[in-house]
Amino acid sequence: MPSLKHVAKSRALLSPILILISTSPASSSLYLHPHLYYYAASFSSTLTSTSTSSNTFLRSSSNLLVSSFKDWFKQRNNAHFDQIFAILGTQVDDDWASRRAADLALSRLAPRLSEDFVLEVLSYGKDVLACLKFFDWAGRQPGFHHTRATFNTILKILSKAELMSLMLEFLDNYRRQRYLHRVRFHDTLVMGYAVAGKPDVALQLFGKMRFQGLDLDSFAYHVLLNALVEESCFDVVEIIVKQIQMRGFENEITHSIMIKCYWKQNRLDEAEAFFRGLVSQGRDTNGHVLSVLVDGFCKNNMFEKAGKLVEEFQELGMVPMELVYGVWIRDLAQAGRLSEALDFLRKKKSLEGYVPEVFRYNVLMCQLLRENRLEEVFNLLMEMKEGEICPDKVTMNCALCFFCKAGMIDVALEVYNLRSEFALSPNSMAYNYFINTLCGNGSIDEAYSVLKNSIDQGYFPGRRTFSILADALCRQGKLDKMKDLVLVALGKNFMPSASTFDKFISALCRARRVEDGYLIHGELNRINKVSKRNTYFNLIHSFNKSNRGDVAARLLIEMQEKGHTPTRALFRAVIRCLCDMENPEKQFLKLLEMQLSHHEPDCWIYNFFIDGAGHAKKPELAREVFEMMQRSGIKPNLSSDILMLQSYLRSERIADALNFFTDLRQRRNIGRKLTNSMIVGLCKVNKVNIALDFLRETRDNGVVPSTESYEYLIKLLCSSGEYDTAINLIDELEKVGRQITSFIGNVLLLHSLKSRELYDTWARWRELQSDKSSRTSILGLLIGAFSGQVRVSQDFDNLEEVIEKCFPLDVYTYNMLLRRLSMGEMDLACELFDRMCQRGYEPNRWTYETLAHGFFKHGRRAEAKRWVEEMFRRGIEPSERIQQFV
Ligand SMILES: *[C@@H]1O[C@H](CO)[C@@H](O)[C@H](O)[C@H]1NC(C)=O
Ligand SMILES: *[C@@H]1O[C@H](CO)[C@@H](O)[C@H](O)[C@H]1NC(C)=O
Ligand SMILES: *[C@@H]1O[C@H](CO)[C@@H](O)[C@H](O)[C@H]1NC(C)=O
Repeated sequence: MPSLKHVAKSRALLSPILILISTSPASSSLYLHPHLYYYAASFSSTLTSTSTSSNTFLRSSSNLLVSSFKDWFKQRNNAHFDQIFAILGTQVDDDWASRRAADLALSRLAPRLSEDFVLEVLSYGKDVLACLKFFDWAGRQPGFHHTRATFNTILKILSKAELMSLMLEFLDNYRRQRYLHRVRFHDTLVMGYAVAGKPDVALQLFGKMRFQGLDLDSFAYHVLLNALVEESCFDVVEIIVKQIQMRGFENEITHSIMIKCYWKQNRLDEAEAFFRGLVSQGRDTNGHVLSVLVDGFCKNNMFEKAGKLVEEFQELGMVPMELVYGVWIRDLAQAGRLSEALDFLRKKKSLEGYVPEVFRYNVLMCQLLRENRLEEVFNLLMEMKEGEICPDKVTMNCALCFFCKAGMIDVALEVYNLRSEFALSPNSMAYNYFINTLCGNGSIDEAYSVLKNSIDQGYFPGRRTFSILADALCRQGKLDKMKDLVLVALGKNFMPSASTFDKFISALCRARRVEDGYLIHGELNRINKVSKRNTYFNLIHSFNKSNRGDVAARLLIEMQEKGHTPTRALFRAVIRCLCDMENPEKQFLKLLEMQLSHHEPDCWIYNFFIDGAGHAKKPELAREVFEMMQRSGIKPNLSSDILMLQSYLRSERIADALNFFTDLRQRRNIGRKLTNSMIVGLCKVNKVNIALDFLRETRDNGVVPSTESYEYLIKLLCSSGEYDTAINLIDELEKVGRQITSFIGNVLLLHSLKSRELYDTWARWRELQSDKSSRTSILGLLIGAFSGQVRVSQDFDNLEEVIEKCFPLDVYTYNMLLRRLSMGEMDLACELFDRMCQRGYEPNRWTYETLAHGFFKHGRRAEAKRWVEEMFRRGIEPSERIQQFV
């Protein structure tokens, strides 16, 4: 995409109409399209004379642009060629009638064949087989004989497509054809092998010919010579050159190949001397030899020397320079020296009226596109159009890429949709850009259909494009398309990356198609690709959700075999799921057995299973594991004991828990960790009185209970309205020198928000205290403020400070403050939000929902919506409740 700086620069250059439009306020998206306006303006004379509003202009500009391109593209009249290839496409090889029909149709289209025509058709075609069919058909036409050039071209097509077997078959067939006698058999074979990069075979055949008294003609000699140089068979080159000279075949082609032979051996000085010798004899009449020499210097990275040669011979005026300029521009561009190439082109254009050939423009544009120099691409397109240079396939592809990169998706789409009209066949670069751009624009369906089309045309996207599209399909849940894409890819021997598979499997899991995900995972296993750890997690969670504990268990074992480490939570989920199936004991023990057979029996395995059974509310199973562990000689450590205790508590087996605890007293010192587990565990199942007894007992035994025990007890006491006891515990906590934690503070504030009872209890309690320490009084003030009993100034900055004096604030505290504030002024709430962010607190879902809800309550729907959008942007999924509101 063009940068703003770039746009500002181009604006200054562009026509007045652009300036006119860009001052209009409704054109915020203009910066994407500076070229579009210029383009449209320069093509449409009607436009400059009418004072259309910018909106109408926006709508009409893309049509104008497309139609102006259409006219230009249509200059390339290939309808004829397209028809020929369409006919060849319908021909069924083994069907005589079909062949005959195709022959007739072709004869009607191209009644009189010439060498040039056949060469043009062959260079236009992109399907090797179609070219071969055409070649075959042409050879059978009365009055036309294939020439060296046509043979050479078809051989080159075959060898470029790396179809050696097809080529040999072709050479074989060729021996039996009836046009055999017209073209010399051996010449063709020698050329064929030379072009196919087999100069040794070609030389052998050549030797055989000479033995039989036959000889090559000039054309074939040069094909052979060139192949020898290309394949670096330099020792034979000299011999063949001598043969050529002896026969008087020596010409500029010979010289060019000899120059290439020098520079391929890094003998550039000799090449140059040889060339200067030729020039002094006036023997480079079309600039071909010089262009090969310049190319040689460039290929050896001697650009300065090459440039000097170009300038020197231009000034001498002894050699025509068109070809040389073309090669020089191409080499500069390909070496990434784009600015030099463009400057050179500008200079030669203005001083000498030099106009490059279309393929030189193409090289420049492709390279410029790669470097995102869109303005210059555009200028070249304009220059070509204005210079009435007929575009070719590559030019059109460059234009398509340009539209994509400039963000002109609508134009790109329209040009693409009209591709048959323009005879535009996108190449792989254009397909890649186009698909990427469509994905970026969110037009995934279009991107997918373009991809299908590209596959029909024989292209497959690059790795990056593939994963961009695959990611987009997965993200949008277009999973059938994704499946199709993967199948096609595999059919093309293209293996998508592990992360693509991971995303696909995860998307299938999300869409509740875990079976499909599992199938793909199985396929990957089959070809020895290891799914990512995350993929295993997703699969296991999904099987848990569909109550397939057996499969989840299998995956849990498998992932360890593949070297991934599961978490305790994952074990928990699998065990809980297993315990919901039939025969839970059997399933559970089977998993334990499998796990033990994969690892040395270790404390952690038993602990994970005790924990899992506890969470699945199967304390007997936990106990069984606990016993097994001891039987196999592993001493339960503190964690094992705590987990076992928690297993009882979680299932509200209080008597068992107390008995276990009594047993523990025999085995170990009862420290804070164990009592903490006991108290917290009791609180979690609402046994507030037993927990309180335990707390007191612990304290009486001289152990100070953990802060966590206090937190849970205070929370539970507040929930059951026993504020007296809660306040006493807070007092006690302070007396033993502990701080009030955020957790406790938040519980108090939350209850104050709900009712005034906490405040009243606190006020009564305080009356009875002799020591009125300042801290508890500040806490009381806060409770009063939150329950609306104490008036505070609107300055809530102050309230934060007050809270800070009692306990450290956390996000939860801020959320409550926000909730309190959004009962009144939303602006204050927003200020608090900003402050909390400034202080480094990370807002969470509740934060955003509080604000959205607040705005909604105040009837400010639009703002409420904005906050929900903000949530989405941060990747936080809003709850269903809030989504209903907005
Ligand atoms: C995609 O491009 C089209 C055409 O330019 C535009 O109308 C649409 O708003 C774009 N969509 C997105 C999500 O950018
Ligand atoms: C496992 O599935 C159950 C119910 O199907 C669900 O409540 C639980 O959250 C799931 N656990 C995990 C870790 O996915
Ligand atoms: C008990 O053993 C497991 C596994 O070796 C270990 O992870 C855990 O930290 C141990 N617990 C204690 C309290 O040492």
